[in-house]
Amino acid sequence: MGIWSKKSLARLQDEDSAGHEMHRTLNGLQLTLLGIGAIIGAGIFVVTGTAAAQHAGPAIVLSFVLAGLGCLFAGLCYAEFASMIPVAGSAYTYGYATLGELVAWIIGWDLMLEYLFASSAVAVGWSGYMTAFLRDYVGVALPAALSNAPFETAPGSLIPHATGAIINLPAVLLVGVLTVLLVVGMRESARVNNIIVFLKIGIVLLVILFGAFHIDQANWTPFIPPNTGRYGEFGWSGILSGAGVIFFAYIGFDAVSTAAQETKNPSKDLPTGILGSLIVCTVLYVLMAGVMTGLAPYSTLDVPEPVYVAISKGGPALAWLRPIVGLGAIAGLASVVLVMLMGQPRIFFAMSRDGLLPPFFGRIHPRYRTPYISTLITGGVSMVVAGLFPIGLLGHLVSIGTLFAFVVVCAGILVLRYTRPDLPRPFRTPFVPVVPILGILCCGALMLGLGLETWLRLIIWLGLGLAIYFFYGRKHSRVAQAEAREGARAP
Ligand code: ALA
Repeated sequence: MGIWSKKSLARLQDEDSAGHEMHRTLNGLQLTLLGIGAIIGAGIFVVTGTAAAQHAGPAIVLSFVLAGLGCLFAGLCYAEFASMIPVAGSAYTYGYATLGELVAWIIGWDLMLEYLFASSAVAVGWSGYMTAFLRDYVGVALPAALSNAPFETAPGSLIPHATGAIINLPAVLLVGVLTVLLVVGMRESARVNNIIVFLKIGIVLLVILFGAFHIDQANWTPFIPPNTGRYGEFGWSGILSGAGVIFFAYIGFDAVSTAAQETKNPSKDLPTGILGSLIVCTVLYVLMAGVMTGLAPYSTLDVPEPVYVAISKGGPALAWLRPIVGLGAIAGLASVVLVMLMGQPRIFFAMSRDGLLPPFFGRIHPRYRTPYISTLITGGVSMVVAGLFPIGLLGHLVSIGTLFAFVVVCAGILVLRYTRPDLPRPFRTPFVPVVPILGILCCGALMLGLGLETWLRLIIWLGLGLAIYFFYGRKHSRVAQAEAREGARAP
């Protein structure tokens, strides 16, 4: 068996109840809020502007619909898994139960691209709004060398080049503070998150409602700017590339599933949290993207703070919204970083419990009951990455890594329906096999929109992960060891 060993559901559930060391405090509504907290962030506040300016123009609205569809299909598959296997580890655990240890490791490793790198990417987006807010409303101009990424990539080049900046200090500081908050306790952080989520939804609604009255329809014409002759630059290929890029904005609803062990009634609450947060955000995004590209010519939105810029173009009547949007983005993006920093250690926890990572990754703090060592490791790496790299590079990596995990989750639902039709499924993905197959196709298409360099980076990252698995995980795997013991006992 070895690399194809699967973990039985009975074993997963036993481990869950035996090793249950975290507090169960979250319900369906809190999970929905947790999901929205993870979803609405740098994607809509930053990446939408770049994607409209470089790929799709006003048709970025269609990119949002396309990416939302892919997420909906994948979300329905996540919901079935999360209700069936409501234990820590998200897609990693689902992979272990269905497709075997090697695939599980690959997904677990790949999910670092999602959670860990997303926490850095959003922290970089936060830094853009923070710097603009300090400049415009507090009169403090941070030196450019201390508020920008020291490395950047040119299109078509794999290796980043130096920009002359030293470090993105605000991004580093944000991750540091939130890491400490997470070590101290889940309940406290969930409470902070809830307040910020309401604030964030409120700000998005304000922009939509008041912005709608100042839309200049000329900005929407042509709605689909003609392709420049290069793939992904406007036209239909631009809409697809735009969808791959702004897919980043939807990431987070699956973070709900990483909180399975802290959920009161996982089989009901997890699907509610995943689908609820996804639907709310899709509606808000489509409207917000329409308003932003209606307020400002799309070519002007390629800046670190595009919502700000869009409102400014709306004229003096919207001036009062600017500081509110600034503050909302600052609080809202911080809450995304928080949820991402929370998801990663819980995946590390599951991987270390299985022996695929060293045991200290799973150590729980005696007093705070949080996986504190993996939280500190996550925070430390995220600080370095946030301090060095720009949001474009990080966002693309996060998108491709997450899409890859989604494809595997959809495939896992298909496999399990045929291999284990008997299992109880408190939530069933509708229209199987159509929905999982559409999920695989949509997410695969979005991956194709992301460009060759991003694919190469994904392949390098996965290659590194495979090397670690064959040097460490394979030898320490608990499931493999248990199988070996059973094999030795058998006559
Ligand atoms: N969806 C998250 C964001 O847009 C990652 O910030």
